[in-house]
Amino acid sequence: MNKLRYIYIVILLITGTAAFAQQSLIQNIYSRKHISLNGRWNYIIDPYEMGYYDYRHEPFDQSKSGKGGFYDDRKQIDKSELIEYNFDLAPTINVPGDWNSQAEKLELYEGTIWLRQKFLANPANDKKYVLYFGAVNYEAHVYLNGKKLGVHKGGFTPFQFDVTGKLKKGENFVVVKADNTRKQDEIPTVNTDWWNYGGITRDVLLAELPKSHISDYKIQLAKGNAGKIEGFVKLEGAAANEEVTISIPEAGVKATIKGDGQGRAQVNIPVRKLKLWSPESPKLYHVEISSGNDKVSDKIGFRTIETRGQDILLNGKAVFLRGISLHDENPLIPGRLRSSADMRMMLNQAKELNCNYVRLAHYPHSEEMVRLADEMGLLVWAEVPVYWTISWENAATYQNAEKQLTDLIERDKNRSSVIIWSIGNETPLSEPRFKFMSSLAAKTRELDNTRLVSAALEVHRKGFDVIVDDPLGDKLDLVSFNQYGGWYWALPKDLSKYKFQIKYNKPVVITEVGGSALAGFHGDEDTRWTEEFQESLYKNQIPFMSTMSGLRGMTPWILTDFKSPRRQHPYFQDFWNRKGLISETGKKKKAFFVLKDFYEKTEQKYK
Ligand code: GCU
Repeated sequence: MNKLRYIYIVILLITGTAAFAQQSLIQNIYSRKHISLNGRWNYIIDPYEMGYYDYRHEPFDQSKSGKGGFYDDRKQIDKSELIEYNFDLAPTINVPGDWNSQAEKLELYEGTIWLRQKFLANPANDKKYVLYFGAVNYEAHVYLNGKKLGVHKGGFTPFQFDVTGKLKKGENFVVVKADNTRKQDEIPTVNTDWWNYGGITRDVLLAELPKSHISDYKIQLAKGNAGKIEGFVKLEGAAANEEVTISIPEAGVKATIKGDGQGRAQVNIPVRKLKLWSPESPKLYHVEISSGNDKVSDKIGFRTIETRGQDILLNGKAVFLRGISLHDENPLIPGRLRSSADMRMMLNQAKELNCNYVRLAHYPHSEEMVRLADEMGLLVWAEVPVYWTISWENAATYQNAEKQLTDLIERDKNRSSVIIWSIGNETPLSEPRFKFMSSLAAKTRELDNTRLVSAALEVHRKGFDVIVDDPLGDKLDLVSFNQYGGWYWALPKDLSKYKFQIKYNKPVVITEVGGSALAGFHGDEDTRWTEEFQESLYKNQIPFMSTMSGLRGMTPWILTDFKSPRRQHPYFQDFWNRKGLISETGKKKKAFFVLKDFYEKTEQKYK
C-alpha cells in the first residue's frame, strides 16, 4: 500500500473515531459547575436534509472541504454569494422542548430540524469541558463552531462530548441536526402508541471539571444487606493510585479508600443504623466524594429490594406496589415534560391516587423526574423502549438496545427510588426475540445486581383462561404483563368468568390494565367511552386481578390522557389515547376514585 494512502487511512481513522467518540457519562453532572444552554434556539426545518447532503447526496461533513453544511453557520462573504439558509433570521423554539408542540406546522413533522445556539465561554487551560445533552429524539449530529463533535442515537438517554480545547474565548455556537424519523431497525421501531416528539427534549449544559476528576460512582446498599454500602468510584486523569474519601456525615461515615491503580476504587463500607429510604420515609443523605482537588456531592437514599417467593421485600418487609403508569408528557402543557414544575405536578397526582410506585413507561424519563421520585417517595419501574415489533435478528439493533439500557443504568444507579429495570414491553414471542431479551436481562444483572429485572411479558387467552407462560418469565424477577380485560376483550361485567393461569411462582406486578373514557362523556356503564364504562371496568378489574394469589402490585394504564398517532376516532380520541384517569384538562374521571379507594384499603392491609 503506498505511503500516502496509508497516511490518509490513519487520518480517517483518527478523525472518524473522534467524530463518533463520546465522553462516557459524567455521573451527577448537574452538581458540576456549568452553564445552561437552555433557552430560545434558532431552528431550520430541513425535510430533504439539504444542510447535510450535497446534491449528489454526499454528506458535507465527510467531504474534503468539510464545508457547506448548515452546521458551519457561514456568514455571507459577499452580497453576490448564494447561501440558502440563515440561522440569525430563522425562527426560534424553546430548548428543552420538542418541536411538535411548539409550532402548529410541526405537530406531525417527522424528519430533520437544525437547531443553533450561540453562547459565551471563557475556557481555562487547566479545566476539562463537557457538552451535555439530557436527550435528543432520535438521532443527533452535533457540531461546535462548525466542527463535528459526533453522533448519538436514542431519543431518551443523555450523552456528552469532551469539548476541552474546542471552545473559543467569547462567542461560540453549537448546531444540532435532530432527526426523529422512525426506522424499523431502531429502538423503538416504527410502531409505537405514543407521539413521536422530536428535538432537544431535555437540558443542554456546558460543564467545567478539573482535569483530574471523579467521573463516576455507585454508592448504594449491597443487595439484601442494610449493613453494607457497596459500589465504586472512578477517577479520570488522576494519579492512578489516588486516594478517595467518602463521607456521609449524618450517618457517621468517613472512609478513605485507595484506587486500584487503574483509576477505580472499590467501595465497601460497613454501616449501622442508616435511616432506610422508603415511600413513607424518603430519607436522602448528603454524600460527599473527594479525591485530589476534586469533590462531588449527591443526595442518596439507601434501601434494599429483593423478592422471596411471591413477595417483594423493601428493606426486608413485604410491600404492595400501588402504582400508576406515566408517559413523559404533561397533557396540560402539550409536549414532553420540560421542568421540575410539571414533573412534580404529575408525581403529586400519583401521590393523590395513594400511589407508592410509578411505571415510567416506555423509555427512560429524565434524571430530574427520577430524582423527584427519590425526594417525594415513589418507587420506580424504569424502562427502555424495546417495544413491540423490534428487529430481533439485527445485531446493530441489539447493540442499540444494550447501549440505551447501559446509559439508563449508568445514569440512575444511585437513585433509591428505582427498584426495577425493565427491558421491554409486549414483545411478540419468537426464538430471536427470546435470545435478544435474554441477553438484555443478563446485561442488566451484569451492570447492576442490586435491583429487580422485569419486562411486560406476553399473555394469551384460551377460553376463559388468561395464560402467562412467556418463556422470558424464566429470566426475570417478576411476572409482569398487560391485560385489558373489559376493554380489548370481554365486557367489564363478564370478567368474573375468567381466571389467570400463571406459569411462574414469582411476584405478579400487572404493568397495564384499564380502558378509555372521554372526560365529561356520561351514560350507562355499558356505553363505551363513557366515564361510567371506565369506572365499571375498574370496579370489575380490581376483584378480578385480586384472584391472583401472587398479585403484589400494578400500574394501571395510565395517569393522564396522552397523544398518540394511533387514536383517530374524531370525537372520542382526536389523536388522544383516552385511558388516562385524568383528562388533558386536568379533570379526574370517575375511575380515578375507584383506584384511589382500592389503594387506600391496600395501604392499610400492608401497614
Ligand atoms: C399496550 C401498550 C401501551 C398502549 C396500550 C393501549 O399495552 O403497552 O403502550 O398505550 O396498550 O392500547 O392503550
